[in-house]
Amino acid sequence: SVHLKYLSEDEDAKRELAEYIQETKKSINPRWRLHYHVIPPVGWMNDPNGFSYYKGEYHLFFQYYPYDSVWGPMHWGHSVSPNLVDWRELPTALAPDEEMCFSGSALVDGDKLVLMYTGRLNTDTDPFYNETQYLAFSDDGVNFYKYEGNPVLARTPDGAYDFRDPKIWKYGDYWYVVIGSSTHDARGRVLLYRSQNLYDWEFLTVLGESNGELGYMWECPDFFELDGKYILLMSPQGLEPQGDRYKNTHQTGYIIGSFNYETFEFVPEVDFQELDFGHDFYATQTLDADGKRIVAGWFSMWELPHPEDVDGWAGAITIMRELKLSGNRLLQQPLDEMLSLRNGSVHNGSFNKDESLVFEKTGELIINGDLEQKIELEIAGTNGGNNIWIRWEPEVKKVVVDRGGDVRQVEWSPIGSRSWRLFLDASSLELFCGEGEVVFSTRFYPDGDLRVNSFSDQSLNVEAYKLGRSVP
Ligand code: FRU
Repeated sequence: SVHLKYLSEDEDAKRELAEYIQETKKSINPRWRLHYHVIPPVGWMNDPNGFSYYKGEYHLFFQYYPYDSVWGPMHWGHSVSPNLVDWRELPTALAPDEEMCFSGSALVDGDKLVLMYTGRLNTDTDPFYNETQYLAFSDDGVNFYKYEGNPVLARTPDGAYDFRDPKIWKYGDYWYVVIGSSTHDARGRVLLYRSQNLYDWEFLTVLGESNGELGYMWECPDFFELDGKYILLMSPQGLEPQGDRYKNTHQTGYIIGSFNYETFEFVPEVDFQELDFGHDFYATQTLDADGKRIVAGWFSMWELPHPEDVDGWAGAITIMRELKLSGNRLLQQPLDEMLSLRNGSVHNGSFNKDESLVFEKTGELIINGDLEQKIELEIAGTNGGNNIWIRWEPEVKKVVVDRGGDVRQVEWSPIGSRSWRLFLDASSLELFCGEGEVVFSTRFYPDGDLRVNSFSDQSLNVEAYKLGRSVP
């Protein structure tokens, strides 16, 4: 049938790219490479894409430019994992032909893995780009073929240009997709479509739209059910900072509401909230893994320096987190499988003022303290470089992550556990407070190994581990 005519990929070009990557990798400076996160083999990465489970493995793709450590014509890089914790590189999945391969998602159809992504073309006329939706397929999870009839979805209902980052799912007899967009008067919105065959799409509704206060463009939308509610997760661009909120270049957050598959109406019940409070978190994508809703984010941010780019790479994906709904908000929790990365105890017991713990590049700490008193920790390089401060301010009940004076802070009232759980990985910090009601994802660039110093007057209780597999 016409639907099964794929463009075959150029095998020589693929081989050359693989050789280029293997060769270029040799000259990467390893000092800030992350050990248990997905990072680009070489070059640049941004958004997580195509998060899926296919033929016994989890697949995670990402926006990728192998030829430089800055953004360039987008490819899709590819990693797989048996457990969402141990990741292995696979060959580059998509390379641009006439189109750049912008963000998108994946879903299994029979014995095929289907990718739907935005093909972005440069054009000669204003606005000098065109965004339409493309399909690619795989029978083995390694080699991908673009559909010859691309694009399958070419125009927004009102002709607005921004039209990207399709997230597909299946419900009943239909495929559904949400796509990020912007109105003619520059308000972010999300469009909902459905299809019975993946090729012919019917516009259903504007699922959500900014009232003028939620940014000019909503990137990377995602839409899913959690505990009886529906969550519209997206990355709005153009929010102005308000006190402690919206301090990054762009934000990622969610609206909780209800949804009806008969009317396609999403009724918001809780206003937009940020998902993560750190410096480096954007463009999330989720996966339904056996009823658990797992989220991955780009562990970086637009329009900021990426200091590792001088080393031949830039960007990472956060550790995978399970999302849970608790009252009016989402919690983010590290997966249980993270416990399998523990590889030796570094400390267990009291941790006093002016004491320090040293981690060889990676570590996990579980910290308990008296929340009536201040907590103050510094994470620094054993040879200097960037440091970062983490504080608990009992008077204002705020957790603070301070990167060289660039502060992110948020109020925290524990709903259960009163511990902090920190994951460190060479140039990254992920801090989970309590049950995951407050989470910070922040990159920083220390030299040497990592030293955690306590400046807290109180004695803390700390359990700490080295993380990472032993070499067999
Ligand atoms: C989000 C984003 C997407 C786009 C991709 C391009 O970070 O801007 O909207 O598809 O990155 O790399």
